[in-house]
Amino acid sequence: MERQDKYIVWHQSTVTKKDRQALNKHKSMMIWFTGLSGSGKSTLADALERVLYTEGVRTYLLDGDNLRHGVNQNLGFSPEDRKENIRRTAEVGKLFVDAGVVVLAAVISPFEADRKAARNIFEEGEFIEVYVKCPLEECELRDPKGLYKKARAGEIQNFTGVTQPYEEPKNPEIVLDTSVLSVDEALKKLLDFIRESL
Ligand code: ADX
Repeated sequence: MERQDKYIVWHQSTVTKKDRQALNKHKSMMIWFTGLSGSGKSTLADALERVLYTEGVRTYLLDGDNLRHGVNQNLGFSPEDRKENIRRTAEVGKLFVDAGVVVLAAVISPFEADRKAARNIFEEGEFIEVYVKCPLEECELRDPKGLYKKARAGEIQNFTGVTQPYEEPKNPEIVLDTSVLSVDEALKKLLDFIRESL
């Protein structure tokens, strides 16, 4: 498809991100959870969203599995498809941030370059990378969806940690080791950081 960027001009709406943030009485941002399948990304993102919601913060959770049912349903797990998956997730998240919402994204996002590209479309301080750390062996033991077993049996290709790499984040804002911390402990650490940023 030929790109038409040079004929497309940005339309600046009169109601701005700052206006929407002022209405909501808090800042908006992207909280990006990265980690292996089974590390606890969705659980922690969900727990964080619940607390923020009860405190009157406007939130929305973009969960990788759920996005793959809709906006990303034509994408698989090759490195190229993951790149596009992350790009779309970040772009959708950026719209929510513009809308004044605290967005939580829970996606494996295994490649450093893709996470960096995601970060780069946000303003300084708007992108909070949360590395949900957990050893592969522990994730495999948990295997909540039975997918590691299938990957080991060769039934699923390109599986993160098994037949495709996971590149650990180099400079995440927060690291939560879920093989050591309970959900409540990890949540507390998260909340301490996020409340400071709101
Ligand atoms: S990402 O790498 O592109 O960020 P995403 O978070 O959207 O991945 O999707 C990962 C989810 O898809 C996992 O939670 C798992 O349930 C499922 N899945 C299916 N196939 C794979 C695979 N090959 N590798 C990793 N996850 C997979």
